[in-house]
Amino acid sequence: MAVLILTTAFVAFFLSEGLVVKAEVATYIAAVYEHHVILNPEPRVPIEREAALVHMNKNLDVFEEQAASAAKQGAQIIVFPEDGIHGYNFTRISIVGYLETVPDPRVVTWSPCTESDRFPNTEVLQRLSCMALKNHLFLVANMPDRQDCDNLTDPHCPPDGRYQFNTDVVFSDNGTLIARYHKLNLFHEEEYDTPPECEHITFTTPFAGKFGVFTCFDILFYEPVMFLLKNTSVKQFVFPTAWMNKLPLLAAVQFQRSFSYATGITLLAANLQGNGRMTGSGIYTPWHAVYHHDKEGKSGKLLVSKVPVLDPPMMEDGEESYKLKLVPFSRLSRGVLSEPPTFISNMMNDNFTFVPLQGVEGNLKVCDGSLCCHLWFRRSGPEEELYALGAFQGLHAPLGTYYLEVCALVKCNGTKYGSCGVGTDHAQTVVDFRLQGTFSTQYIYPGVLGSEMTLDRPDESGWESKSEFYMTRKGMATGLVTAVLYGRVYEKDGYGKRCP
Ligand SMILES: *[C@@H]1O[C@H](CO)[C@@H](O)[C@H](O)[C@H]1NC(C)=O
Ligand SMILES: *[C@@H]1O[C@H](CO)[C@@H](O)[C@H](O)[C@H]1NC(C)=O
Ligand SMILES: *[C@@H]1O[C@H](CO)[C@@H](O)[C@H](O)[C@H]1NC(C)=O
Ligand SMILES: *[C@@H]1O[C@H](CO)[C@@H](O)[C@H](O)[C@H]1NC(C)=O
Ligand SMILES: *[C@@H]1O[C@H](CO)[C@@H](O)[C@H](O)[C@H]1NC(C)=O
Ligand SMILES: *[C@@H]1O[C@H](CO)[C@@H](O)[C@H](O)[C@H]1NC(C)=O
Repeated sequence: MAVLILTTAFVAFFLSEGLVVKAEVATYIAAVYEHHVILNPEPRVPIEREAALVHMNKNLDVFEEQAASAAKQGAQIIVFPEDGIHGYNFTRISIVGYLETVPDPRVVTWSPCTESDRFPNTEVLQRLSCMALKNHLFLVANMPDRQDCDNLTDPHCPPDGRYQFNTDVVFSDNGTLIARYHKLNLFHEEEYDTPPECEHITFTTPFAGKFGVFTCFDILFYEPVMFLLKNTSVKQFVFPTAWMNKLPLLAAVQFQRSFSYATGITLLAANLQGNGRMTGSGIYTPWHAVYHHDKEGKSGKLLVSKVPVLDPPMMEDGEESYKLKLVPFSRLSRGVLSEPPTFISNMMNDNFTFVPLQGVEGNLKVCDGSLCCHLWFRRSGPEEELYALGAFQGLHAPLGTYYLEVCALVKCNGTKYGSCGVGTDHAQTVVDFRLQGTFSTQYIYPGVLGSEMTLDRPDESGWESKSEFYMTRKGMATGLVTAVLYGRVYEKDGYGKRCP
């Protein structure tokens, strides 16, 4: 279990300019709650509405305590995780008792708490609305939404005459439902439909301006979050998630940190705790992270933190253009490029081409197709710890839905080459490095993970030339587990007609 504070120097990579915020900028207090979800033990068996409510009220009881506790600590907004009220692993039929029809807040102005009779069958919405009202905070939660449709006139309408959406709902501090977001990128969720149209949802708070909304698997795709970022310049996001950790590259806090850092946004990430693999929540600004990763996974965790406002209209001349400066990584001699034999090893289902690190210092290169990764390194610590530099370019398998360009320096799980790419979370070797790759995409998420899930950060990162992205880090306080430049080639995904 770790709750740590990380200070980062910040550069934004995707935009030609970065953010510099003055010390006296406005702030607000945000909370995220990592919830140890109480599950329906037989989620694939249909149950009546009454039984579904009994189940959901157990989770809502916990939410109620946490919302009150957050409010006591001054929180103005709280985010609860995806699947936190109902759980997961349902079928299309078995989730029916859990569904409520969430009206579109762009059309209907409604406070479920104070106008409870207006729409039937909305007990969960009512409880959430009352929590927001009673505690005077903005509240974000996730629930299953049912929208009836006519399969004769709507070509996307499912044969059973209703859409079932994985849905985020947002309430203002007076209990009004102010935003509804239907998750676009589903992850093996047979109970849910993909929304027929791509939604770009934001909401506005009086204390921090605009926030965008997205959920879980969405974080790996262009739509809807990158669109919001680029198109509406929203710089604050709420992110309910139910993320299964996967080292070496995609542990929850690891990627949340990289995402916020690389895009220059605030991310309020609330993860579920469940099935032994889900944990990892945090409040991330481009500069700081307050986060939680619970190895035991036995109890929930409320994080509360003061956060600078990142809404450009609300930042008093806080935004300044900032040119990336390249400072050569001077303390490492680049030495002679060595080309040890490559080997292939599977990392998170992709076949990476690796080269091992040999000696205490070196200069290595490994390529996969047109992606070449370069590493200059100097290591200290136990010599028996094996590290390797890997390159992968291609469609991530077996899902085959997203295209990657990845340069990764990883600590292998053992001393054999075949253990490179297998997740491990501890390391004793301190590695000073400069990692660089020839990417075709502009969307690179740099990440540095230390031993025992300690989030670290690059000293520096950015474009060295049009196609060469680099990061450097030296003098880490913990052993290095993973250093990665995780590139996403969004333009190869294809969304059809759903999104503009
Ligand atoms: C969902 O249920 C199936 C079968 O009942 C089980 O094998 C699987 O592990 C469950 N998934 C999760 C995420 O718990
Ligand atoms: C259309 O939906 C209704 C229920 O609303 C269902 O009874 C009917 O079978 C559906 N028709 C088709 C063609 O799927
Ligand atoms: C409730 O909050 C919303 C959003 O902040 C605001 O637009 C609305 O005027 C408020 N309603 C009342 C009755 O105060
Ligand atoms: C914003 O979105 C519209 C389409 O909805 C698109 O035409 C426009 O180019 C986008 N602008 C930016 C800056 O991405
Ligand atoms: C990865 O390599 C193994 C062994 O060489 C091969 O069997 C497998 O098909 C490869 N997987 C992919 C996705 O290319
Ligand atoms: C990683 O190494 C440890 C210690 O040798 C071992 O117990 C574990 O099974 C390995 N993990 C995998 C996935 O092989």
